[in-house]
Amino acid sequence: MAKAKTYYFCQECGYQSSSWLGRCPECGKFGTFAEEVVAPHKTQNSKLKIQSVSTPKRIQEVTYSETRRIETHCGEFDRVLGGGIVPGSLLLLGGEPGIGKSTLLLQTALAIHDRKLLYVSGEESEQQIKMRADRLLPSLERRGAGGEALYVVSETVTQRIFEHINAVQPDLLIVDSIQTISTEELDSPAGSVGQIRQCTSEFQHYAKSTGVPVLLIGHITKDGTLAGPKVMEHIVDAVLQFEGDRNYGYRILRALKNRFGSTAELGIFEMEGSGLREVPNPSEFLLSQRDETLSGAAVAATLEGARPMFIEVQSLVSSAVYGTPQRNANGFDMRRLSMLLAVLEKRCGFKLGAKDVFLNIAGGLRVADPAIDLAVACAILSSNVDIPISPRFCFAAELGLSGEVRPVSRLEQRIAEADRLGFEKIFISKYNLRGLDRKRFGIEVVPVSVIEEAFRGLFA
Ligand code: TYD
Ligand code: MG
Repeated sequence: MAKAKTYYFCQECGYQSSSWLGRCPECGKFGTFAEEVVAPHKTQNSKLKIQSVSTPKRIQEVTYSETRRIETHCGEFDRVLGGGIVPGSLLLLGGEPGIGKSTLLLQTALAIHDRKLLYVSGEESEQQIKMRADRLLPSLERRGAGGEALYVVSETVTQRIFEHINAVQPDLLIVDSIQTISTEELDSPAGSVGQIRQCTSEFQHYAKSTGVPVLLIGHITKDGTLAGPKVMEHIVDAVLQFEGDRNYGYRILRALKNRFGSTAELGIFEMEGSGLREVPNPSEFLLSQRDETLSGAAVAATLEGARPMFIEVQSLVSSAVYGTPQRNANGFDMRRLSMLLAVLEKRCGFKLGAKDVFLNIAGGLRVADPAIDLAVACAILSSNVDIPISPRFCFAAELGLSGEVRPVSRLEQRIAEADRLGFEKIFISKYNLRGLDRKRFGIEVVPVSVIEEAFRGLFA
């Protein structure tokens, strides 16, 4: 069979060439050319394009049937998806190697017992998949799932994958991973830009024309971007990212893009010996049972997506051993830490410039919510003066450059959660008080306007 015509395209500017080029003559970039298929009907008869089957309609005339989403029977996963998998959608699950992507999707496939599923793996053999499933099944069986309608196959060529699909006729297709799959239409190896692009669009065509949703797994490179072209993110309907520190058990699933739901939702899991366990109450789980006599720890009332999460910030301040003091932060932005230290030095008069400062966000989490600032500053101060902060106190405010304590978003939600978790005091910005009904909560709300005030309130 003759191969379809392929061309090489510059992935930066779209320049087309019949052979591979090292440098693009159009934009001058190096190593940007990738092989792509050009479908003959697209180039031959331009009149065909004009005779389009769809006609513009008034928006009131457009009808659709309320398509039922496929529930994954996993609350955290459904939450991130926006209430289940939409028929005909193409989803991409990204994450670093070894984070648990295959585990999450195989577990989900085993739990969906009311549909026929096909799990295609280009990475593992059927025996290896079965071994993993045997590990996961005991905890799933307790919930009534058994994987009776799950078909598995080890395959890497899309043409043969579609033959398997024809034989099985699944209601949901899982492909692990897109980097290992290739199409016969291209000569380039699996994992190359052109292959990823072409295979993704083949799966998209399948999903859109049959209504069968497709879940693709994709690896993420060290710098956190999806290996493969950005264009893959444009093709798929949703991009989910699975992240977490491999040395800790927590895994966070978030939607970076979702055509059928919010990107603010977050799923939290814990990796155990028998697979991933859902964590519906992250705060209760993240707060360590700590000894009251330890200095350098403060609890931050942060929001991850739409969900309040209470996180312990730990700090250690000690005299610098070497000439240049060390600064080290785990889970917190280093530049932000330098800024906070400068503010503390200037506003509170601590000679932190001559001290080593270490900061750690408990549980290996990475926090971007600015409301964590006050807890970070208080943890550092607590370690510096060696006076512990009560574990019954928590903090929710941002710090400005002049040491002012600034308001944060959705404060009521944070206070309500602090109240529910049994905290006694929450330190907030004075500027957050407007419109806040403090009497609604059992917890004591302590407003502060500058960092010195918080310091005096805690340690004076
Ligand atoms: P895996 O799903 O293979 O990662 P990915 O597909 O993202 O590359 O999971 C890898 C890790 O998960 C591996 O180091 C072992 C661990 N694991 C458990 O701790 N418990 C389990 O039940 C399973 C299946 C895996
Ligand atoms: Mg895997």
